Amino acid sequence: MSQDFLPFTRPSIDEQTIAAVGDVLRSGWITSGPQVREFESLLSTYFAGRPVRAMSSGTGALEIALALPDVGPGDEVITSPLSWVATANVIVRAGARPVFVDVDPATRNINPELIEAALSPRTRMLLPVDLAGLPVDRDRIYGIAREHNLRVLEDAAQSMGASWAGKPIGASGDLVALSFHANKNLTTAEGGCLVLNDGPEAKRCELWRLQGVERFADGGLDASLAGGKHNMTDVAACIGLGQMRRLEEFTARRRVLARRYFERFDPTLGCELPLADFEHSNWHMFQIVLPQHVERGDFIRDMHAAGIGVGVHYPAIHLLSLYRGMGFRKGDCPQAERIGAGIVTLPLFPAMLEQDVDRVCAQSARILQRS
Ligand SMILES: Cc1ncc(COP(=O)(O)O)c(C=O)c1O
Repeated sequence: MSQDFLPFTRPSIDEQTIAAVGDVLRSGWITSGPQVREFESLLSTYFAGRPVRAMSSGTGALEIALALPDVGPGDEVITSPLSWVATANVIVRAGARPVFVDVDPATRNINPELIEAALSPRTRMLLPVDLAGLPVDRDRIYGIAREHNLRVLEDAAQSMGASWAGKPIGASGDLVALSFHANKNLTTAEGGCLVLNDGPEAKRCELWRLQGVERFADGGLDASLAGGKHNMTDVAACIGLGQMRRLEEFTARRRVLARRYFERFDPTLGCELPLADFEHSNWHMFQIVLPQHVERGDFIRDMHAAGIGVGVHYPAIHLLSLYRGMGFRKGDCPQAERIGAGIVTLPLFPAMLEQDVDRVCAQSARILQRS
């Protein structure tokens, strides 16, 4: 990057991938086909041989993961209030009720200590989120799930390239949903995937993915359930194949830049820095929480005026109007509310240079010192 406008994120798509997408477009087959099968096979290898199905979005992967064990009306799903609203919306769309459990301020992920108190006879599933690609403690989550006979759906939308116990997120566990949206560490422009437990579950996932339709050798078909339309296109899968070649490089580069932030961000400015995890996190985002006296809107405006993009990921979900309308209130999850009110995402993406990080840190200091 240069001294031009520095966005908070930017995908890295190489010329080889752009050429390969051109080939797909010229091939006459642009929706789900050979590229999707190859992408799924590569993903499955990456996820230790588990079945994987590619989707048109991470949201679609989450929706199907709730449908597979029939989560619906009368059920409760325990989740984090500090996430993209898709995490909770899919629960509501399934007809179930989200139960928000406050986050641990150190990780900004659901606090496992608080989960037991939120369980009820209606609890069916735990739906933890890895905010910014920092994995939630899998040992604690699966320990609770085993003890109370619950399914787990990992919202690993931001976790591609992150790891737990030396293995990639997705290589173990129950249902794992990932997103390949343009901002993610690995992108297909829009897209996602669901990692499943076995062949029969993957087969049912295929039905939920495309209208519930099964086709027969004689040309006939049947529909056994009211599935949606969540299949990935070959155009998107081709981008994903190009990205998979570079995933390790992307993650390594993000780690280098995150370390640079820790070296250069002035600790006396009163901001809360993220947990300095260089074992599990894929550094999907570098997020700071501003001091309470700083107006976030002013900070974002001043950074923007200096040519630096800043994001907000995310205000606490339970305070959005849909969820207030369902009875959730300020005070339900104080840590998520406080963090959600002051969090900002600083620029971090593989093509950034070290001096870009230095520029962000220097500009943040200039603004915060006069706030
Ligand atoms: C935590 C989280 N969950 C779910 C999603 C939904 O993924 P998609 O945008 O691919 O539908 C996202 C995407 O931003 C996300 O960050």
